[in-house]
Amino acid sequence: MTTTELAGQALTQERRLVTAIPGPLSQELQARKESAVARGVGTTLPVYVVAAGGGVLADVDGNQLIDFGSGIAVTTVGNSAPAVVDAVTQQVAAFTHTCFMVTPYEGYLRVAEQLNRLTPGDHDKRTVLFNSGAEAVENAVKIARAHTRRQAVVVFDHAYHGRTNLTMAMTAKNQPYKHGFGPFAGEVYRVPASYPLRDGDVDGAAAAARAIDLIDKQVGADNVAAVVIEPIHGEGGFIVPAPGFLRALQNWCTESGAVFVADEVQTGFARTGAMFACEHDGVVPDLIVTAKGIAGGLPLSAVTGRAEIMDAPHAGGLGGTYGGNPLACAAALAVIDTIERDGLVARAAQIGDTMLGRLNTLAATDPRIGDIRGRGAMIAVELVKPGTTEPDADLTKRIAAAAHAQGLVVLTCGTYGNVLRFLPPLSMPDHLLAEGLDILDAVFREIA
Ligand SMILES: Cc1ncc(COP(=O)(O)O)c(C=O)c1O
Repeated sequence: MTTTELAGQALTQERRLVTAIPGPLSQELQARKESAVARGVGTTLPVYVVAAGGGVLADVDGNQLIDFGSGIAVTTVGNSAPAVVDAVTQQVAAFTHTCFMVTPYEGYLRVAEQLNRLTPGDHDKRTVLFNSGAEAVENAVKIARAHTRRQAVVVFDHAYHGRTNLTMAMTAKNQPYKHGFGPFAGEVYRVPASYPLRDGDVDGAAAAARAIDLIDKQVGADNVAAVVIEPIHGEGGFIVPAPGFLRALQNWCTESGAVFVADEVQTGFARTGAMFACEHDGVVPDLIVTAKGIAGGLPLSAVTGRAEIMDAPHAGGLGGTYGGNPLACAAALAVIDTIERDGLVARAAQIGDTMLGRLNTLAATDPRIGDIRGRGAMIAVELVKPGTTEPDADLTKRIAAAAHAQGLVVLTCGTYGNVLRFLPPLSMPDHLLAEGLDILDAVFREIA
C-alpha cells in the first residue's frame, strides 16, 4: 500500500501492531534520514507516520500506535482535527500568504481578539503573532525591554525556552540544547526554581524568597526587564511549583516594575485542565507566550499582554515574514472553537484524573516511582533509585523503549533525564487511554 493510500484510510481507534516497532519500511526511511538529514535533529521513535487522528498514529508499515505525546503537546485538539482540516482547506484555496505586514487579513485580527479574550485578566490587551515558541519568547523579551528600558532577564533552573541564541541562554540544560553553541546572549540571569520533590522543607513562599534574594543581590531589582517562567516546567520535568511560588514572583515584579512573563508554550490551550496553567495559581501575567497547542500542528505562536507594555516597541519593531500566516490563523480559530465547543478544558482535567488514579496505584507498589505530578493531560512520573531522590535515567530510557515496542508513544524529559511524560491528545478515546495505561503498568512490572 502506498503512503497516500494508507493516509486516506479512515483511522480506526485501535492499537495495531503488524511488525516490530519500528517496522522494516520505517527502518528503510530512517536509513535515508541518516544520509539526508543533519544528525543534530534526533528522533525519539523512528516510526514514519502516514496518518494520525483521535488517539492513534498510523505508520508506513501498517502499525497503529497509541499517542501519549501529541507531537510534544501540539495536537491537543487531535491530529487533523476535522474543524482544523476544514478551516485550513478553505483558507488554502482562498490565499496562502500575503505577509500581514504588507497587506493584512482578518484571520490575524480574529486570532488576536480571541487571545485577548481568553488569556487571564480583564485589562486592555494586545497580541502579536509569530511562528515558533522560541521566536515568541524572544519577542516577549524585546517587548519587556522596550517597555521598561531595562535589560536583565531573569530565568529559572530547569527552564526550557527554545533553541535560538537568546532562548538557548534562557534554557537551563546544557546537553543537548546548548553544548558547543555558545557564546550565548548576555543579560540573562538564572535563579532557583521551586521543585517540591527536591526542595525538602522549602515551600512556595520560601522558594520565591530564595529566588528574589538572588535577584536583588546579584542583578538588582531596578535592572530587571522581565522575569520569564513556565508555570509548569515542561522539558525540565513537568515540575509543578509549590503553591504561592508564582504569585510571590508576580507580586515582586509588580513592586519592582519588571514584566512578569508566563511561557505557556507547552502548558497553554486547555492542556492542563485550564485554558492556561497560570490560572491554577490565580496568577495574571503581564505577558503570556503561547504556541504549540494554539493551532493544532500548524506553526503559530503569540505574545499577548497588557496594552501599555505590548505597545512599547516602535511601529515596525515587531513582526516577520510568516508571523500569523493565514493558514495557521485559520487553524487557530478552529482550535479555539473546538476547545470551547467540545469542553476540552474539562476533558483535560478528566484525562488527568484517570491517569493520576492509575499511576498512583502503580506507585503504591513500585518504589522506583519517586513522584507523580502534573495537571490535566500533562502528567509525569519521576523515576529514582528506591528510597532516595537519586535520578534513574537509565530505567526511564528502558521503560520508554519498552512502551514504544508495545506501540505506545511516550516521551521523556527532565534535567536529570529521569522523567516519563504523558501528553495525550484530548481527542483520545477512553478505551485507548486505558489501554495505554495498561501498557505502562505491564512495562513497569516487566522491567526489573
Ligand atoms: C515552555 C517552552 N517554551 C518554548 C519552547 C520553544 O518552542 P518552539 O520549539 O516552538 O520554538 C518550548 C518547546 O518545547 C517550550 O516547551
